[in-house]
Amino acid sequence: MKVLVIGGAGYIGSHTVYELIRAGHEVVVMDNLSTGYKEFVHKNAKFYLGDITNKEDLTRVFKEECDIKPFDVVMHFAAKLIVPESVKQPLEYYHNNVEGVRLMLEVMTEFHIKNVVFSSTAAVYGDSKKGICEEDDPCDPINPYGASKYASENMIKWVCNAYDMHYCIFRYFNVAGADASLEIGLKKDVLTHLIPVAIQAGLKIRDHMDIFGDDYDTKDGTCIRDYIHVSDLAYAHVLGAEYLVKNKKSLLVNLGSNEGYSVKEVVDVVRKYLPVDYRIAPRRDGDPAKLIASNKKARELLGWSPKYKLEDMVKSDLAFRKKINNK
Ligand SMILES: NC(=O)c1ccc[n+]([C@@H]2O[C@H](COP(=O)([O-])OP(=O)(O)OC[C@H]3O[C@@H](n4cnc5c(N)ncnc54)[C@H](O)[C@@H]3O)[C@@H](O)[C@H]2O)c1
Repeated sequence: MKVLVIGGAGYIGSHTVYELIRAGHEVVVMDNLSTGYKEFVHKNAKFYLGDITNKEDLTRVFKEECDIKPFDVVMHFAAKLIVPESVKQPLEYYHNNVEGVRLMLEVMTEFHIKNVVFSSTAAVYGDSKKGICEEDDPCDPINPYGASKYASENMIKWVCNAYDMHYCIFRYFNVAGADASLEIGLKKDVLTHLIPVAIQAGLKIRDHMDIFGDDYDTKDGTCIRDYIHVSDLAYAHVLGAEYLVKNKKSLLVNLGSNEGYSVKEVVDVVRKYLPVDYRIAPRRDGDPAKLIASNKKARELLGWSPKYKLEDMVKSDLAFRKKINNK
C-alpha cells in the first residue's frame, strides 16, 4: 500500500509510520511540525512540510505523489488535542481539526482517493455513565476538542457515503509508551498524561504529582481508565488500512484494552522503578469514575488485541524520557 500520513511527525502518527514501514508499506508524511518533530519521521518515509488547513499545501502533496502512484489510504492524525486549550480557543480547534478534515476530504475526492483512516477519541462519548464504552453508545462530547472530533467523524461518514469512499475511524482512550527502538516517544512541551507525569515526579523533574480525587466509587477511590501502548495502537492502523483496501467496507472501532487500571495502580507500577511522591487533590470537573473501552469489535473485525501491558508502557516511557534527558 502507499499511505499518506498527515500528522506523521507527532506522537501516534510517527509510531504508525514505523509500523507501516515494518509491515512493508510505502509511506509519505505531511506535517506542519506545530507539535511534531522532523526527526520523528522514519528515514524511509518521504516528508512534506505542509499545513492541512492550506489547500495549496495539500494539493501539492497529492499532485506530486499521485502523478507517480496514487495513495491507497490517507491517515489523519493532524489535530490539536489539549482539552483546556480547546475550551479557551474553540475557533482554533474547529479550524484546525474540522476545516482541516474538510479540506483533506475535498482534495481526496479531487484525486479519487477512496480510503481514509481517522484518529478519533474517547472524548466523543462525553461523560459516560456506564463506564464501559461501546461504539454505538450515544455520543455527547463535553468540550470543544471532543466536539471537533465528533463533527469530523460525521463529516467523514457523509462524504464517504456521497463519494463511494470508505473510512476506518478509531476511538482511542489513554495512550502511553514508546517504540522499542526508543527513536520516538511522547515528547510535548507540557506533559499531562498520567504515566509520563508520574515518571517525571519520580525523576524529580516535578516535585510531586496530584491525584485528582480519591473518593470515587472504585476499588481504591481513584479513577479507572483504559491504557494502550502506542505501538499496539499504531499497529491497529496498519490493520485498519489493510482492511479498507481488502474489504472495501467502512468501520468504526474503539481501541482499548477491555480492562482498566486505577490511578493509584498506575502510580504503584511507576513506583516499582522510581520514588514517586503524590498528593490527593480535589476532583476535576467532568472526570467520570470509570472509562474503559470495549474492544470486542476491534478483535472481531481486525483480529486486533493489545499485546503490551501497563508495565511495558511504564518501562518504555521511562527509557525514552531518560534518552531525551528527562524532558
Ligand atoms: N495522545 C492521545 O492520548 C490521544 C488520545 C485520543 C485521540 N488522539 C488523537 O490522535 C491524534 C494524534 O495525537 P498525538 O498525541 O499524536 O498528537 P501530536 O500533537 O503529537 O501529533 C499531531 C501531529 O499533527 C501535526 N499537525 C497538527 N495540526 C496540523 C496541521 N494543521 N497541518 C499539518 N500537521 C498538523 C502536528 O505537528 C503533530 O505532528 C489526534 O488526532 C488526537 O486527537 C490522541
